[in-house]
Amino acid sequence: MEQRKLKKLLSEMSLREKIGQMIQLTGIYFDDDAVLTGEVGEDQPPQWVTQYAGSVLGMIGAEKLRGIQKKYVEAHPHHIPLLFMADVIHGCRTIAPIPLGQACSFHPELVRKMAGHAAAESASEGIRATFSPMIDVSRDPRWGRIMESFGEDPFLNGVMGTAMLRGYQGEEGKDPAGNKKIPESGIAGCLKHFAGYGAVSAGREYNDVEISQRTFREQYLKPFRMAMHADPAMVMTAFNAVDRRPVSGNKELLEGTLREEMGFSGTVISDWGSIGQLEEQNVVSSQKEAAEAAVRAGVDIDMMSPAYMFHLEELVKEGSIPTSLIDKSAWNVLVMKNRLGLFENPFAGMQGEEPLSAEAKKTALALACESSVLLKNDDMLPLKPERKVFWGGPYVESRELLSRWAIFGRYDDVETIREVLKARKMPVRFLPECEILTEEERRLWQAENCRIQDSGEQDKEIPEICVNSGKQYATLDEIEPEDTVVLVLGEHEAQSGEAASRAFLDLPEGQQKFFDAVAGRTSHIVTVILSGRPLDIRKIAEKSQAVLFVWRPGTMGAEAVVRLVYGEETPSGKLSVSIPWCVGQVPVSYWDVKTGHRMVETNPENRFTSRYMDIPNEPLYPFGFGLSYTEFTITPPIFEKQEREDKIDISCKVKNVGEVPGAEVVQCYVETLCAPVVRPDRELIRFRKIFLLPGEEQEVKFTVNRKELAFYGENMELIDGDVQFRFIVGNSSRSEAGSILYAF
Ligand code: IFM
Repeated sequence: MEQRKLKKLLSEMSLREKIGQMIQLTGIYFDDDAVLTGEVGEDQPPQWVTQYAGSVLGMIGAEKLRGIQKKYVEAHPHHIPLLFMADVIHGCRTIAPIPLGQACSFHPELVRKMAGHAAAESASEGIRATFSPMIDVSRDPRWGRIMESFGEDPFLNGVMGTAMLRGYQGEEGKDPAGNKKIPESGIAGCLKHFAGYGAVSAGREYNDVEISQRTFREQYLKPFRMAMHADPAMVMTAFNAVDRRPVSGNKELLEGTLREEMGFSGTVISDWGSIGQLEEQNVVSSQKEAAEAAVRAGVDIDMMSPAYMFHLEELVKEGSIPTSLIDKSAWNVLVMKNRLGLFENPFAGMQGEEPLSAEAKKTALALACESSVLLKNDDMLPLKPERKVFWGGPYVESRELLSRWAIFGRYDDVETIREVLKARKMPVRFLPECEILTEEERRLWQAENCRIQDSGEQDKEIPEICVNSGKQYATLDEIEPEDTVVLVLGEHEAQSGEAASRAFLDLPEGQQKFFDAVAGRTSHIVTVILSGRPLDIRKIAEKSQAVLFVWRPGTMGAEAVVRLVYGEETPSGKLSVSIPWCVGQVPVSYWDVKTGHRMVETNPENRFTSRYMDIPNEPLYPFGFGLSYTEFTITPPIFEKQEREDKIDISCKVKNVGEVPGAEVVQCYVETLCAPVVRPDRELIRFRKIFLLPGEEQEVKFTVNRKELAFYGENMELIDGDVQFRFIVGNSSRSEAGSILYAF
């Protein structure tokens, strides 16, 4: 629709119609099968709200949504369509690895492609907006939501978030009137959670966030700044406060930082209930005040709190809120609907369910392979296909390779590892399953799952935890010392995601016992770990000859595991987040700020250094680390200054000196050599993934702009000149092929 017509439409809308655009209801008010991703209060929305609510979350199904849309548009005085939104986080029906895993691929183009499939599957089922990507810098594996982030590094979050957003929103064109359009097979993306949510204290979900303005701006805002280039349709406010000021009522952050400073021009949506929660945070004393604070702060859509639906109308009528603020927010929502082409066709994209596409499965498989990180390999992998191998562990026969955030994924689409091995006729024996969860964990998981089922969130069956009946299993006694055993262990999918913080990061007790029993028979153990977060795997890693971390790998996870273990694919993933040495070390990341009591190799025994008495400072496996079945050399970097003084080119050569094709991720970090404020040891500034045949060599060139190196000085002024930097090139945050000094 032309801008002029859209403006006319806004001017003709009643106050209730405008407020309606600012309210998002969960699908349970429209359909019993809707997915619930938050608590529903006792208050029922007034009748006019269900009639005018501008958007709905948590529903899927072309036929159903067509029906709802048709009825809604017909009844709406101005025939404004609804916008269906949902949490499509790492795939809609074809499920890719969790974002934390996807980031390990260091392959943004693949991430973009997968998001394109997710968008097409969503759109054909009626969903035209997703609450993804989540680009919260996350360094605490106790926090269950770490699975949904791209890990500990701000730059990696920015690159991957941008790629995912581009995949969702597709190749945007312009309509004849010059308005931006998201194609019918695309969906609106939403950067979340603005901002700082990844820093929840002690990794405890929904907890307070305590960070300095400097750290907040340099690290937590950086990915948002970067992803603005992809023109996000939406941004979601975080539950937390920043500097004790809750984001959903924080004008300085939403209007000042997000819109004015970063240039965001889309729609701001609250997280579930976060406007109403301003009252629980005691910064307002009623829901009415909460509504006023959020509107003034610039929150356009209230997701599932009572504030807007019960109080906005009154606030406007009594003159506490100017109509101009309502117009501004309603306008932002209308513009987003227009960008999606909904005014021309409210059913745009709703083709209906289609079988999983071969293309989507292929991309999900590639991503599952490239996301997996080989952490240890003492000449063990790849296994020769003819070798007799025992496979055991709870995930060999399980279809639970998805995650809590794969809400539209189906277990039926997932093959098990056992099925994949059998189809290949591998000479394998299977060990009896061990327990996935301890009694206590099982009780929690079942209680949790029942809650989900009662609320209609999922119709996934509660999977049988130990399926042993009627199959032929080897016994542990049959394992001889020279035998090889592949154990597929890990954290259950119910143990990560929203509201899933953990204080201990161990494997479930039953699995540890099972592992120990196998380790008592042979030392030739390959451990494959599935998880939504870094785990405490020190003891497992010590006793395994190879460790492959596959995160929650998605629909094609079983195929990926088998390909990687048998060398049909070469691992190329690099950690997007450090794996801690033990839980007492968290949060641990490579991004340490310099200290005057630095522990260096020459004085490891010096007591007066920054260190633990009982564990090393270094994580078990650092950010950026990952092994391959081949070897690479990287030459020390050289630089060319460009003609323009504000850029330099840093180049090096990478060569595959091993015997199989593979990919290396060349990483470039920067260290600030002298500054008025203390700076981090190093920061990732560029990376490139290079696929090379044996013997092949390629030059890698990174262009770095002076402005990107800017940092905040003593008075939060931006410093972007007269500083000397060291650029370090390597293949992990702890390796150094060489470095160069350069002053801007
Ligand atoms: O998108 C999510 C958000 O990340 C956490 N709370 C619920 C929202 C909607 O489901």
